[in-house]
Amino acid sequence: MLQVNNISKQFGGIKAIDNLSFRVKKGTIHSIIGPNGAGKTTLVNMITGVYKVDDGTIFLDGADITNISTNKLVYRGICRTFQNLEICKNMTVLENILLGFDKYMDKGILKSCFRAKSILDDEQRYKERALHLLDLIGLKEYANIKANNLSYGILKKLEIIRALATSPELILLDEPVAGLNPKETQEVANLIKTVVKDEVTVILVEHDMKMVMDISDYITVINFGKFLAKGKPLQIQNHPEVIKAYLGNQS
Ligand SMILES: Nc1ncnc2c1ncn2[C@@H]1O[C@H](COP(=O)(O)OP(=O)(O)OP(=O)(O)O)[C@@H](O)[C@H]1O
Ligand SMILES: [Mg+2]
Repeated sequence: MLQVNNISKQFGGIKAIDNLSFRVKKGTIHSIIGPNGAGKTTLVNMITGVYKVDDGTIFLDGADITNISTNKLVYRGICRTFQNLEICKNMTVLENILLGFDKYMDKGILKSCFRAKSILDDEQRYKERALHLLDLIGLKEYANIKANNLSYGILKKLEIIRALATSPELILLDEPVAGLNPKETQEVANLIKTVVKDEVTVILVEHDMKMVMDISDYITVINFGKFLAKGKPLQIQNHPEVIKAYLGNQS
């Protein structure tokens, strides 16, 4: 479904992504792992049109999507969440999800917070699907509560559901359980494994190795922006190069 061919991205003297290639199969959870600074977020930003690709190509379902802007990619069925939560705190849970339907946004979610009224008037018909998604993850009772009254754990789930609201084909999750306690982590893992995977193909960037090993179909490992290994969870767990990369980089 997604084909990344020899892509590179340089920041000054740093090769954040260096001639990287991999493929993602439709209907799978495909994790991207690697030590801090390996280039994972940069890769997500390249696939989602936030950063321009210096070299190489990216194909989605056979169509070249290299350097297409983020808002156009939403129409192509690519959606993502952020390593740092981007939720509109002054809006309710339901309103935040309705922002996910706003395929017309031109400057990203946060800008949309300021013109929410017009969006919500237009998007009444999406309310039903938003409530359905909330129901699936047991958050329907929070629909009319403002985000600033809710825990970080609930907001992380909300961000995932909002990305799903656009009915994407491919969703990219950048550290969806960072900062969550073990119980919340398990809930988000279940959410990805059941609700999310049922609907879409998932690219997961995550440091929580237990979760990655539990829910991934395939894992690609990168280090210093380069491809290091690819395989099923057990293969990756026992891969000598992967073990070396982690032991060599972790404090
Ligand atoms: N906008 C930017 N400008 C300059 N350098 C950047 C930029 N974004 C990333 N980098 C550099 O690119 C490299 C890869 O960073 P990136 O954030 O992609 O790593 P990561 O694998 O997501 O790390 P982490 O696990 O800590 O989130 C780092 O050396 C980082 O400093
Ligand atoms: Mg990152």
